[in-house]
Amino acid sequence: MTIRPTAYEFFAGGGLAGLGMAGLGMAAGIDTVFANDMDPAKARAFVSNHPHIPFRLGDVWSLTLDDLPGRPDLAWASSPCQDVSLAGARAGLEAGRSGAFWGFWRLMQGLADQGRAPRVIVLENVIGLLTSGQGRDFAAVCTAMAQAGYRVGALEMDTALWLPQSRPRLFVVAIKGAGPEAAGPAAPFHSPRLVAAQARLPQAVRDAWAWWSLPVPPKRNLDLAALLEPDEAADWLDDPQAILALAGPAHRVRIDQAVASGGRQVGAAYRRVRIENGVKVQRLEVRFDGLAGCLRTPAGGSSRQYVVVCDQGRARVRRLTGREAARLMGLPEDYRLPSSESAALKLTGDAVAVPVVRALTEGLLSPALGPRRAAA
Ligand SMILES: C[S@@+](CC[C@H](N)C(=O)[O-])C[C@H]1O[C@@H](n2cnc3c(N)ncnc32)[C@H](O)[C@@H]1O
Repeated sequence: MTIRPTAYEFFAGGGLAGLGMAGLGMAAGIDTVFANDMDPAKARAFVSNHPHIPFRLGDVWSLTLDDLPGRPDLAWASSPCQDVSLAGARAGLEAGRSGAFWGFWRLMQGLADQGRAPRVIVLENVIGLLTSGQGRDFAAVCTAMAQAGYRVGALEMDTALWLPQSRPRLFVVAIKGAGPEAAGPAAPFHSPRLVAAQARLPQAVRDAWAWWSLPVPPKRNLDLAALLEPDEAADWLDDPQAILALAGPAHRVRIDQAVASGGRQVGAAYRRVRIENGVKVQRLEVRFDGLAGCLRTPAGGSSRQYVVVCDQGRARVRRLTGREAARLMGLPEDYRLPSSESAALKLTGDAVAVPVVRALTEGLLSPALGPRRAAA
């Protein structure tokens, strides 16, 4: 008889990493046996959707080894990205909230001292981790993993390969032992910027490096329009021109062409602050390529994403809903979101997309762990 491997889920948010690892109906899934996050609204969502998983609300720095049950096969950390985000200031992983990674790492070291080290560790983060602090953050993370006896590799995975959302994210994967591995970097998961960052790592880390390989998924056949509420159920803005007027010349052309096409064109848009001629201006940036822009959290100061529908010679505009954002993250329809729209958008905007984690689990994490046999 075999039993499934187990995971700790740190920075768990609404538990999307765990949903991807467990994989509905996936034989080779991994089960979360402990989760932690410090955000009360996300904690409520986690517990409501995963009542059987032990969850600890609080700062990762407040956890002790006694809080962590048994010996996990894997530890997952989606540590906060604000400080290394390409969209934000680059204070670096050692500063502010991103320092939370080291609160997690301290626990990994403690587990190793007790002979309970997980065989696989995954750090999910924004792509900015490759270059923040002139590459020192990425080097610090990979060095810590290599010094702890892991082989280290990373993959850049864009949610757009699975779902209609542009959302590139970095997954640093540390494995004790063997995993599916390529002889060298290969597209699409070993991007040129990852290859460049790897080349800047200290020699000792490059000696421990592995170009983990992962099957490329079949072509996505789902686009943004398929995930949206029906038009008649949506809450359209009374004055769409007030928003559309913020589009700069190139984006205005896109809107005009979509309206002129005569057919139904569905786009996604964000209001962004841009510097033009030395002056800050609000701009609407719109895309009609079947993808939503990367979901963001309202807390990050970003505007909420808009849906722009052009048909019958006009353009209508509305805000993307929390449920639509949940679909863009691959959450099932029965996932219980926080009741407030802003909390639902915060949960989804911060999360990792479920099918991306599932693909990583099926293609790399589960094969690296292998089946676990129960004691007779
Ligand atoms: C990028 S989000 C990860 C979300 C999660 N992977 C998901 O899919 O829903 C980072 C999470 O870390 C949590 N967090 C930030 N600092 C923390 C700390 N010091 N201790 C525990 N959790 C923290 C935040 O509340 C947030 O939910």
